[in-house]
Amino acid sequence: MKIVSLFSGAGGLDLGLIQAGNKVIWANDIDKDAVATYKENIGEHIICDDIGNIDVDDIPKSDVVVGGFPCQGFSQANMLRVLDDDRNQLYKFFYKVIKSKQPSFFIAENVKGILSIGKGAAIEQIIADFEEAGYTVAVHLVNMADYGVPQTRQRVIIIGQRKDLGEEMLFQFPAPAYAKDGDNRWISIKQAIDHFPDPDLENNVLNHIYSAYKVVYRNFTGHRETNPDKPSPTILARGNGKGGVCAIPHYNGKRRLTIRESASVQTFPEDFYFVGNMNSCYRQIGNAVPVRFARKLGEELIRLEKEIEE
Ligand SMILES: C[S@@+](CC[C@H](N)C(=O)[O-])C[C@H]1O[C@@H](n2cnc3c(N)ncnc32)[C@H](O)[C@@H]1O
Repeated sequence: MKIVSLFSGAGGLDLGLIQAGNKVIWANDIDKDAVATYKENIGEHIICDDIGNIDVDDIPKSDVVVGGFPCQGFSQANMLRVLDDDRNQLYKFFYKVIKSKQPSFFIAENVKGILSIGKGAAIEQIIADFEEAGYTVAVHLVNMADYGVPQTRQRVIIIGQRKDLGEEMLFQFPAPAYAKDGDNRWISIKQAIDHFPDPDLENNVLNHIYSAYKVVYRNFTGHRETNPDKPSPTILARGNGKGGVCAIPHYNGKRRLTIRESASVQTFPEDFYFVGNMNSCYRQIGNAVPVRFARKLGEELIRLEKEIEE
């Protein structure tokens, strides 16, 4: 299917959709480094600008619109006025594109926390907004480990299907293929990254450098011991309080994950090169939708395209 991608970042989501056989025809992000990474690895179809500067008429029509909109403005106080709240510009823009372009489907990614804002009122409002824009909406809470990603990352995926395609949801959400126990067990962090050489020795692995931020176990996010036999905790995009991104400690306890190791936990291919300083690279990776999961979504779009043609 033809896809327009908003808030595309380094392109984790887009890469998975493309690997499945779809075509991303237009993408956008405000972050210069993320756009440079995207161009280097995916294509020149990304525009580097604040989405607020973009005229909706300049965005091409497509079968699908995808994107993860940041949601700072969703507060308990003002739940019924989500679209009127100035802090919700990014959500508003996503909504505006869907409403005016009317793609067959949209896919929006968000953090798990979106389900609890206003005790569920925010997500209810989002569903109501998109229903009003002409869509049937389904909300899925996903643990990426269930899809073969070596990471217990939980994210919310919102699927929209234009109402004229039928009342029944045609988009069959990919079924989990891995589980905590049983035959097809979650992939551990060790299985995912143990083959990499010691980054302190000479090597030719791309982006195989790590943050000097000390490993001290303090039992909060980014400062817990990493169990080699379990999936990694969530690869983070946010800071350590000093402006840097806090990379997960390596299970050897001696250092933090390299950029490359973090990217592998997010299932980026090993030849995917990240542009920017160390913090920027960690941030781009932490922001991404794991490529392996995105590919599953992409495969469903390919299946649907055939079903709709028939
Ligand atoms: C969660 S990340 C998306 C990651 C992407 N889906 C991926 O899989 O790699 C959200 C992105 O929104 C971008 N963003 C934030 N504000 C923006 C704005 N005003 N205009 C355009 N992009 C913006 C950020 O730079 C960030 O890359």
